[in-house]
Amino acid sequence: MGDSPGTGTVIDTSRARHVAIIMDGNGRWAKKRALPRAVGHQRGVEAVRRLVRGLEGTGLECLTLYAFSSENWKRSEDEVDDLMNLMRKFIRSDLAEFIANDVKLKIIGDWRGLAPDIVAMLEDALAQTAKGSRTLAVALNYGAQNEIARAAAQAAQQGEITTETITAHLDTRDLPPLDLLIRTSGEIRLSNFLLWQAAYAEMLFVDTLWPDFKPEDLVQALDDFARRERRYGGR
Ligand code: IPE
Ligand code: IPE
Ligand code: MG
Repeated sequence: MGDSPGTGTVIDTSRARHVAIIMDGNGRWAKKRALPRAVGHQRGVEAVRRLVRGLEGTGLECLTLYAFSSENWKRSEDEVDDLMNLMRKFIRSDLAEFIANDVKLKIIGDWRGLAPDIVAMLEDALAQTAKGSRTLAVALNYGAQNEIARAAAQAAQQGEITTETITAHLDTRDLPPLDLLIRTSGEIRLSNFLLWQAAYAEMLFVDTLWPDFKPEDLVQALDDFARRERRYGGR
């Protein structure tokens, strides 16, 4: 328990409301098994499915997943196609389950720049899950620097550029503050993910490759988070 910054009201800061994950390591998971990278991505989708199924039990209000970065277009055309096709398949197969499980889908990033059929599928999925109470935010064609630049441009158009007006125009403006940022696969970098939102987020870097990440690993991460002392610059 502790004081949240600036509000003066005591809230349970040991409980995370919003966790974000950089789902990394699909390619290395496949390589270790001499399988095509596409199989690693398929198994990565299964890891997502398991996590979303267990979301209710975590008490989280929001889980944000980095699925495709604005830099991932640099990969081979084949790999990009595989990733886009997996996205199509996942929405088709799992949308009904999202609705049944009270999951509200949200997309962050420049997702309207994806293929028109994917944009249409996502728009439909957003509309159909709008009443859900737990948010699954998926970062698609997402780059944090671009997000911040877009937010600053909008803030400027409406008046003053301040930290508050930029925050109010970020793609995450309607999500709870980011509590914990996890990256799998042992890489220790942010790769242009949630740079603004991570200002005071706790970070956790784990060696597990994404396809091996289990709901229990998220529970363990939340346990770890609960034992951290957040200071926000104060004492
Ligand atoms: C993460 O796995 C999935 C995406 C970036 C889409 P990678 O494909 O980056 O896997 P590694 O880093 O090559 O192991
Ligand atoms: C970050 O992983 C992007 C996603 C997980 C979607 P990358 O594998 O693209 O990041 P780098 O290239 O290792 O920094
Ligand atoms: Mg990677």
